[in-house]
Amino acid sequence: MLQRSSETQTAGGSSASEPLGGVKKHPGQNAEPRRLVVVSNRLGNIRDLSQAGGLAVGVADALADRGGLWLGASAEHRDTAAGDEPLIHLERLGRIETAALSLPREAYSLYYNGYANSTLWPLFHYRLDLVDHRSEFLHAYRHINARFAEALARLLTGKDDLIWIHDYHLIPLAAELRRLGIGNRIGFFLHIPFPPPDLFVATPDHEELIDDLLRYDVLGFQTETDLANFRRSVRATNSITFDINGTAEANGRTIVSRSFPIGIDVGAFARMAREASQDVQIDTMRRQILGLKQIIGVDRLDYSKGLPGRMQAFARLLERHPEHQRAATYLQIASPTREEVGAYAEIRAQLEATAGSVNGKYADLAWTPIRYIHRAVPRTRLAGLLRASQVGLVTPLRDGMNLVAKEFIAAQDPADPGVLVLSRFAGAAEELAEALIVNPYSIDDVADAIAKALTMPLEERVERHGALLTRISRNDAAEWCRSFLAALAGES
Ligand code: ADP
Ligand code: F6P
Repeated sequence: MLQRSSETQTAGGSSASEPLGGVKKHPGQNAEPRRLVVVSNRLGNIRDLSQAGGLAVGVADALADRGGLWLGASAEHRDTAAGDEPLIHLERLGRIETAALSLPREAYSLYYNGYANSTLWPLFHYRLDLVDHRSEFLHAYRHINARFAEALARLLTGKDDLIWIHDYHLIPLAAELRRLGIGNRIGFFLHIPFPPPDLFVATPDHEELIDDLLRYDVLGFQTETDLANFRRSVRATNSITFDINGTAEANGRTIVSRSFPIGIDVGAFARMAREASQDVQIDTMRRQILGLKQIIGVDRLDYSKGLPGRMQAFARLLERHPEHQRAATYLQIASPTREEVGAYAEIRAQLEATAGSVNGKYADLAWTPIRYIHRAVPRTRLAGLLRASQVGLVTPLRDGMNLVAKEFIAAQDPADPGVLVLSRFAGAAEELAEALIVNPYSIDDVADAIAKALTMPLEERVERHGALLTRISRNDAAEWCRSFLAALAGES
């Protein structure tokens, strides 16, 4: 059943009766409307992205540019009987239409908390020790993907719609769509790492997952490392080989596999950072009066982000470089995430214990070494806080890309920029060589990099930041979207 809510018009924007989608020009052809249809598990709130994760930010940027339809899971789940029609709530803002799919409560939890975030997430982040593999998770994962396919089939307007599916929640979606007779071009972008074959084959479902991935026309990965891991896993699983151009023949299609590093809207983020809210300005002034430098970390509270190790590295800094005691403060904003999954409750307890013990050891009446905030912060405030910080700490143990690294660079004042300390295991490290690259498993290495960042001369900071800013501006959100969609439309 399709439910259309009261249609919205943006201030001075286009009306809901306009055709959806951007106009795509094929080389040597007349302009031709080609609707973009994006599917992801989480449907961002396009009116307020303040709670957004990396995917929602990237997809919203892509759709803002050319318009189109975005299908995702509704935040409200429901009790359904077998055979119930999918319930889809449609809403429109300017040229973007969103479709929120209501899914059965129990199956959704087994799919999201279960297969997606207790099986695939740890597996793809190289954490075999945390993988929980259960047949009911897999069953629900396939069931929910089939529901997405049924819903999408109703929303398509023709075989010209370009379908772009996002992330590990929806790997089997193309296979389900093909089963329903959908022949459109379908692309898949994986926002998280792809593990090496030796780890990947540890899941009993690896053959099915590879078969599912080979039903797409275009497969996109964050980095060259992920791409190579994927191709080696395909070869190890069913002996299909991608040629030098990244293409392979399978299931009667030519499949393209490439890396498309995701980026951010650099100009928009820099603008937000310059317009810091009043509370950030007051906090910054207070620190300036006290002569305190600020080190910042911004993450979902996920075990892949390396947060306890990061706090230990800050403590090691205070121990090995006592001159930074009372001279530096570390602000960690860690938003709640996936709290129904056991491993996330554990990491929260561990982080809070670490913050407590470092503060207990070093704090005095005038100085709190670690300020820890366990909630999401509006993006405008976040941008201001990043700009007001002298060191950005991005030290995941494994990360697909890490957009915070790019946001930190975009937020800086180019005339007096802060320094980015970046894990070699973040996808962003492939692009951002001028950051201080660290091994997050070595507490000493991270502590020494923080010390170097805090004392780096202005000239070196400006030089490193300039190179980083040029790179993130070139590989921005628009370029990510343009290059993926060109491949999906078969133009490159
Ligand atoms: P992931 O996709 O794993 O969450 P990324 O670093 O790629 O990691 O993207 C995270 C996005 O979510 C960034 O845009 C970041 O600014 C935002 N974000 C992360 N933590 C918070 C928070 N506590 N409050 C607000 N936004 C956050
Ligand atoms: O970037 C990886 C990712 O899982 C995205 O798919 C997602 O939007 C983000 O992290 C936040 O995760 P969740 O949607 O589970 O809150």
